[in-house]
Amino acid sequence: MITFNSENARRFTDENGFRNALKKAAGAYRGVLSGKVAGNEWLGWRRILDDPDDAELDRIEQCASQIRKQADIFIVCGIGGSYMGAKAVVQALRGGQTLQKPEILFAGHQMGGRYLEQLIDYLEQPKADGSPKSVCMNVISKSGTTLETALTFRILRNWFDRSYGDSAPERIFVTTAPSGGVLNDMAGLFGYEKFVIPDDIGGRFSVLTPVGLLPASVAGIDIRLLIEGAVTQFRTCETRADEITEYAALRYYFQKNGKKLDVIGSFEPGLQSLTGWLQQLLGESEGKEGKGLFPVPAAYSTDLHSIGQMIQQGPRNMIETLLAVEEPLSDLTVSEEAQDTDGLGYLSGRLLYDINRQALNGTVEAHAGGGVPVFLIGIRSLDARNLGGLIYFYQLFTAVYVSMLGVNPFDQPGVEDYKKAMYRNLGA
Ligand code: PA5
Repeated sequence: MITFNSENARRFTDENGFRNALKKAAGAYRGVLSGKVAGNEWLGWRRILDDPDDAELDRIEQCASQIRKQADIFIVCGIGGSYMGAKAVVQALRGGQTLQKPEILFAGHQMGGRYLEQLIDYLEQPKADGSPKSVCMNVISKSGTTLETALTFRILRNWFDRSYGDSAPERIFVTTAPSGGVLNDMAGLFGYEKFVIPDDIGGRFSVLTPVGLLPASVAGIDIRLLIEGAVTQFRTCETRADEITEYAALRYYFQKNGKKLDVIGSFEPGLQSLTGWLQQLLGESEGKEGKGLFPVPAAYSTDLHSIGQMIQQGPRNMIETLLAVEEPLSDLTVSEEAQDTDGLGYLSGRLLYDINRQALNGTVEAHAGGGVPVFLIGIRSLDARNLGGLIYFYQLFTAVYVSMLGVNPFDQPGVEDYKKAMYRNLGA
């Protein structure tokens, strides 16, 4: 269940402006639901929740269970929408993942040679008992042509061939478009097991397809609960639009009235990658034709000691979105000490969760008091069902809000420009 508190944002609007934005948001919401929006050929992220594919979930779970039995390390090779959702879900629901098997590592999202060398070194280091690590990899690319991913895949594929010989293809899993592209060719040629990203779902809306579900399932996350939560939120939002439309209206209002940035933060370290996923979901969807708010992910309270000053007293050109978890994730309390040498005796016996929550409440008070509109968006507890709901909530919100800006939420024509220049420089 989503908790939505906009009181510290709403107070920065004028009633008339807000009412007009709300009407526009209601129209955009109806447009998305009825498929009458720009980019309506990309609404498959709604279709898959309207009619979930049970057989596909079975297949993903079976494959993941085989990988879990076999692998010490599972590499997710992808960039942008082809890895950020998986990373967000795994970090949120798995927590301290290094203690669990298989370890999930991410590659293919940059081209640093040192990173890849160190990764390969790490793969080659034997386990504590002296035996070699067992490695599997999922390469994810809808187009199959994205250079960061393709290049990393080539280098790692060669390592798999050297390390595992004829059985290397059994350790490589491909997630790509239903047809076309080099990954489909390679899956056919080498016999890699293949999962499909439906044609009507773009990268940043694909976390609830095999793109996010296979890595999540390999990480031991119950993907049926993730989907169940998303389906419940989907059904709720088909009839109850209040929160989505109010949120979209307010963000639209601020965008129209001179705000430039949305600082998206959380006091829950497990949600850090989710703020990265949101940065991409919003940024790539809304940043077009000179419009949009620049999404800035922030990890709190860490970043209160770096950008907190700027938020409190810098230019008044930003809004802030804080993602919260309502129930404690841990029952760790502050220990009692006979002598109060560190002066923290007043906190003895208190839950770390409560202290962190007071930091959140204090931040809302300070930042809103300093003139920054603050949204507080939360989930009851950090579990698969609630996270699935939050993912769908933000997908729908993005589609509705970005449609209000009069741009296509689902394309990213600007990303091609750096690629063209890069390929020209490389002599492709
Ligand atoms: O949201 C998007 O469509 C992009 O971020 C893509 O996911 C990203 O560019 C990777 O593309 P591909 O999966 O084709 O390698």
